[in-house]
Parts: sequence; C-alpha cells; structure tokens
Amino acid sequence: MNADNDKKQVDLSVNIGKVRLANPVMTASGTCGYAYELRDFVDLGRLGAFVTKSITREERVGNAPQRTVETASGLLNAIGLANMGLDKFIEGPLALLARMSVPVFVNVAGKTVDDYIAVAEALAGRDEIAGLEINVSCPNVKEGGITFGTDPKILADLVGRVRQVAANKVLIAKLTPNVTDITVTARAAIDAGADALSLINTLTGMVVDVERRRPVLANRTGGLSGPAIKPVAVHMVERVYREVAGPAKVPIIGLGGIACALDALEFIIAGASAVGVGTAVLTNPPALIEVIEGIEAYLARHGMSSVAELVGSLQ
Ligand SMILES: Cc1cc2nc3c(=O)[nH]c(=O)nc-3n(C[C@H](O)[C@H](O)[C@H](O)COP(=O)(O)O)c2cc1C
Repeated sequence: MNADNDKKQVDLSVNIGKVRLANPVMTASGTCGYAYELRDFVDLGRLGAFVTKSITREERVGNAPQRTVETASGLLNAIGLANMGLDKFIEGPLALLARMSVPVFVNVAGKTVDDYIAVAEALAGRDEIAGLEINVSCPNVKEGGITFGTDPKILADLVGRVRQVAANKVLIAKLTPNVTDITVTARAAIDAGADALSLINTLTGMVVDVERRRPVLANRTGGLSGPAIKPVAVHMVERVYREVAGPAKVPIIGLGGIACALDALEFIIAGASAVGVGTAVLTNPPALIEVIEGIEAYLARHGMSSVAELVGSLQ
C-alpha cells in the first residue's frame, strides 16, 4: 500500500455536539477576525470550523493603546473585546460567513447575563451559524467584578440561560485558566447544558517597562497566549478530559500555543476532540492548514484510520 492510499483512508472528521466537522482544526476567537481578514492568505474552506472574534450587544472600542506586547514565547494582549457590536455584525460579516462552506461558531461576550442573552437570542435564529461559543472570561459588572468564568454558580446560570434561548444551536463554553481548579468550572458548564468545552483562554499577566516603571499595557494587565502557555493548556485539557468531559462524553476544543501539528497532536492525545489555532495565525496564517495536513500525516504514519482513535489515547 502506498502513502496516497494510506492518506485516503484517514478519517479526520469529528463531532462537536450535533455538528460534524470535516477535520478537527478551528480558528481561535479574536485572532482571525470575521474571516474576510484572512481569506487572501488561507483557504478557509479547508478548516474544520471558523470561530469569530467575540461579539457583544453594543459596539466596543476596546482598551486604550498599548494593547499588545510580545513576551518570551508569548503575546500579552488587552484588546478589551473591541468589536462592531451585534447589529453591525449581522448586517456585515455574517453575510460573508454565510457563504463559507465550513461550520461557523460565533463567539459571544458580555458584561451582564442580559447582554449574553440578547446576543444569543438574536443569533439563535440565524441559519448561517452552527453554534455559539460563549466567552466567560469577562467582568460581570452587575455582580461587582466577579468574572463569569471563575464562579461556578454564575457560570452555570449563564450557560443554562443561553442554552434555553439558543436550544437549536451547538453551545460551546470557553473556559478561563485563571481559576484554582478548572474541573469545577468545566463540570458546572457541562451540567448546565454545554455541548462542548473550549479551553483555554489566555492567562493573566503583566509586563513592566522598567525605565518608566509602569506596566507596558495601558490596561496594566493582559492575557498571555502563544507557545508559553501550551504546557498549561495541555495539562488542563488532560485533567478536564479524564475527570469530567471524557466520562460525560462532552468534546473538548483544545487551544493555547498551537503553532504546528505536533502541538495539536499533544492536545488531541491528552483528550481534545478538536483544536484551535490562535496567536500562531497572526504571524503565519498557513499554520491552520499545516496543522490539518500534519495531523493527517501522523495518523497515516501510525496506521490509524481516524482521528477519533487518537483522542484521549494518552498512556
Ligand atoms: C489578540 C488576541 C485576541 C483575542 N480575542 C479573543 C476574543 O475576542 N474572545 C475569546 O474568547 N478569546 C480571545 N482570545 C483568546 C484566544 O482565542 C485563545 O483562547 C488564546 O489566545 C490561546 O490560544 P493561542 O495561544 O493559540 O492564541 C484572543 C487572543 C489574542 C491573542
């Protein structure tokens, strides 16, 4: 049997809730815009799915500059959820996203539960999208600064209410790593009705300008992403898979520092059914395709017929 025959026999498809993805590779929210920014650089039709930048009920200008700073093996960002808001998103980018041949997940954020519900309700009726990814790492103003993603009760309430208004859509809860025990929030999200979990979002950090003795970012702190966070993310995926999501048969979308197929394979072996590529796309958009091809080549090389065989196969 030659290599071409091997390649044809590899099944890369995965299920995220009721949605079938042709392969496990997705974009990471906030790093690939609303698709049109990337389409000249990558054949987006080859992706497993496209995940948009966070959308909020109202337009947001985001934080003051400086909003990003490079660190050793990572990027610290405090964009502050800058986005065009729900109405402009529906009028503009959604039309382009509708023409995409791959499933689209819209990432939703908000300051209050009502904000999330308003966006989720409006999008639940749109056939253009396969599902919602709720970003639960934003401050909950009504609850006095507690973040949705760190308090399991608030998280469960949010997921449960979004579940109700978007019953027809696949619901992904995107978890923050800025917690003591991520299995607690993972369990809360699953019990409240999430179809899938995506982890991890960025890790809170700070860079100090020693000459000015000030934080480099105007927001003081930011979220760390890129290769620096990969071992933390793989560990969290492995724990959540083993203790919560695996037994509940809820798929995990693993992300955090994936830049090549080997990185993605670590996540899949640790328990992720799919992966997201974020910071790497900012400097190398074709990384998305390289990851797909590399996973396929690995499976063929190891005589495996499907990516499903590899999920959670850590010895
Ligand atoms: C510039 C930038 C903007 C981001 N914006 C969002 C966002 O709007 N919503 C969200 O859920 N995650 C956002 N993220 C987090 C990523 O989706 C991802 O969870 C994180 O960066 C880890 O993956 P990576 O190391 O591959 O980038 C953003 C990350 C970066 C670097």
